[in-house]
Amino acid sequence: MSDRYSKRKKDFYYRTAKRQGYRSRASFKLKEIQKKYRIFRKGDLAVDLGAAPGGWLQVISEEVGPKGLVVGVDLKPILDFENRPNIITIVGNAESPLVQEKIISLLKEKPDVVVSDMAPNVTGHWDLDHARQISLARTAHSIARNLLKQQGRFLVKVFMGQETEDFLAELKDDFAEVLRFRPKATRKTSAEEYFVCRGYTGGD
Ligand SMILES: C[S@@+](CC[C@H](N)C(=O)[O-])C[C@H]1O[C@@H](n2cnc3c(N)ncnc32)[C@H](O)[C@@H]1O
Repeated sequence: MSDRYSKRKKDFYYRTAKRQGYRSRASFKLKEIQKKYRIFRKGDLAVDLGAAPGGWLQVISEEVGPKGLVVGVDLKPILDFENRPNIITIVGNAESPLVQEKIISLLKEKPDVVVSDMAPNVTGHWDLDHARQISLARTAHSIARNLLKQQGRFLVKVFMGQETEDFLAELKDDFAEVLRFRPKATRKTSAEEYFVCRGYTGGD
């Protein structure tokens, strides 16, 4: 695929997001994942880590419906959603135990799904970016382990690199099924992939 084609593709998702009222082109990655793996169901309780500006929150809100609820967390504030009572947002660091306690107090019950699109500000130094991102992915995994109900689902973004296989093995210890997926909406130049985990074996 040429760079020109890649740019056109980027413009396509960007423009489509704008036209359809989504806050980020990332919404289309989650839509692809949902279409293929059906990680959200009506009435689900969900947690979205690294949620700003809110493109995934919009998709999750649609998928879980009015009987469901999604709690979004980000270091950056997320603009309020009008007419979306099933979205709650928290400004904070997902690595902080206080933020995790806040999520629990808002949900009241164990969630069905935890998703993480968390990413650091990239420096261009690949090893450093990979190490920081995998650390965020491991934080998300730890939150999923603490919160999820049995048979729960977990979706996590990973920048591919030397720690990837170890992380994959860690996930396989906790979930009946772990699959790798690279959405079409991911930029050609990006090293990201998503790990889709189903059937949480803890959570009693
Ligand atoms: C790729 S963006 C997420 C886009 C989002 N999924 C959407 O659809 O709008 C990654 C986000 O991770 C957030 N992030 C990075 N480290 C974090 C942390 N420790 N706690 C919470 N959020 C974090 C960043 O602030 C950034 O907004």
